[in-house]
Amino acid sequence: MNTSGRTRLDRLPEWTALGDHRERLRGTTLRELFAADPDRGSGYGLRVGDLWIDYSKNLVTGETLGLLRELAAATGVAGLRDAMFRGEKINTTEDRAVLHVALRAPRGAVIEVDGENVVPGVHRVLDRMDAFAEKIRTGEWTGHTGRPIRNVVNIGIGGSDLGPAMAYEALRPFTDRELTFRFVSNVDGADLYEALHGLDPAETLFIVASKTFTTIETVTNATSAREWLLDGLNAGQDAVARHFVALSTNAEKVAAFGIDTANMFEFWDWVGGRYSFDSAIGLSLMIAIGPEHFRELLNGFHLVDEHFRTAPPEANAPLLLGLLGVWYGGFFDAQSHAVLPYSHYLSRFTAYLQQLDMESNGKSVTRDGEPVSWQTGPVVWGTPGTNGQHAYYQLIHQGTKVIPADFIGFARPLPELPPRLAGQHDLLMANFFAQTQALAFGRTADEVRAEGVPEELVPHKTFRGDHPTTTILADELTPSVLGQLIALYEHKVFVQGAVWNIDSFDQWGVELGKVLARRIEPVLTGGTGTEGLDSSTAALTAAYRTLRGR
Ligand code: F6P
Repeated sequence: MNTSGRTRLDRLPEWTALGDHRERLRGTTLRELFAADPDRGSGYGLRVGDLWIDYSKNLVTGETLGLLRELAAATGVAGLRDAMFRGEKINTTEDRAVLHVALRAPRGAVIEVDGENVVPGVHRVLDRMDAFAEKIRTGEWTGHTGRPIRNVVNIGIGGSDLGPAMAYEALRPFTDRELTFRFVSNVDGADLYEALHGLDPAETLFIVASKTFTTIETVTNATSAREWLLDGLNAGQDAVARHFVALSTNAEKVAAFGIDTANMFEFWDWVGGRYSFDSAIGLSLMIAIGPEHFRELLNGFHLVDEHFRTAPPEANAPLLLGLLGVWYGGFFDAQSHAVLPYSHYLSRFTAYLQQLDMESNGKSVTRDGEPVSWQTGPVVWGTPGTNGQHAYYQLIHQGTKVIPADFIGFARPLPELPPRLAGQHDLLMANFFAQTQALAFGRTADEVRAEGVPEELVPHKTFRGDHPTTTILADELTPSVLGQLIALYEHKVFVQGAVWNIDSFDQWGVELGKVLARRIEPVLTGGTGTEGLDSSTAALTAAYRTLRGR
């Protein structure tokens, strides 16, 4: 089926031109590029809302950027973006619109899907979430025994977990510290067991977050949580209503589980799981930080949406970041992309981006179903600085791989930190700046020799440099800034999918494992034999059964 009608990426003259340009650029160093242009540090930078994005330490020239923008024009990035904002069904394999941007559109906006303006529905749910969050925060909502809720447990996985869990950590200083929040995702019973440890069922609210409400991990954990609750309260089914709410698109399944649909906060099939955290899926976060801060977060998202929609190509940050990734994947054979936040609060940020990026762009056929012959989504990885510096940065500095990296940092620590700890911030940020400097410019053999290093150690102490980095600097990690950062990456991923001509909004690749797990489970429990399994899986499952005494 030819749905995009596009010329193959690798046959476009713009792609070939980039390949030729890459050859001409081979051997050019960042030292040379900075020497040739004394203003490069400020000239290769963009401001978007509260974010300053310095891309000067990338292996690009003005010509590279021009050629990349020509590629974006030739691959119809702007057209696809506009189609997304118009509510067209750009997720072709699932025949769905892709409208996470509607989740943060202002009340008066009009965005239509199948002729219906979806924005009023978004705000209706947000208003219900506001009211519910306030009831929990003020203690007005009580559990089955009349006690106020003190603990909130979000049960979900993937997009129904990573966003709220990440943002809860990111915005901790804005959270109500009197309430306890836990996030359960893994079907490993240990996850729920540890999350419930020390919690009083009478004061615990479960938020079951699942777009489909069929995800085996979530339904299994929710069923176990319900048993824990009812056992703990020594109560019947009627206790569920005060202790369980659902976030879903599937009212039927929610009701079948026993949750009153009056306690369901809906969203819609035009919200992809990994793009859902600013929908009802954010309820746990809203309870934690309060409705006002949640709205600030949405405004941050919206600010970057508008930037992406309207900024000209040469000043469009998601376009630029997306194209840089296309450049490194396509012409440097970069396999991965590191995201290195210099903020302890962003400890889950990269894990969140892994789903966003890798589930979106981990594809190997085009939207027309043709195999690609170019790199698509990179492996996204990273942990907060400075921890990584004492673990894997060695490989980035002196290993054999090209690893483009984003460094994210903040000028100010959050006001809550006591003076002594706030004082450590300069040291943190000195490391932040030093790393991108070292990665870009390295240390030549002559510089090493000039320090009196013995000749046999010179090769070991030489840093080749030219490791590309982008620095994203903001004043402070506020709800709005977090929204801006996430929207920046959402649209970056969009740009890359558009250039690579893949459907960034389906995730068929997760299905096979689910089907096979369903087939294997009865083998483990002894319900069926190993017939039909490959010899490795048959032997492994037989060993498992022996170890379990079955
Ligand atoms: O892993 C596949 C996936 O569908 C993700 O895209 C999604 O975020 C996750 O599972 C959870 O799905 P649901 O919200 O329907 O439980």
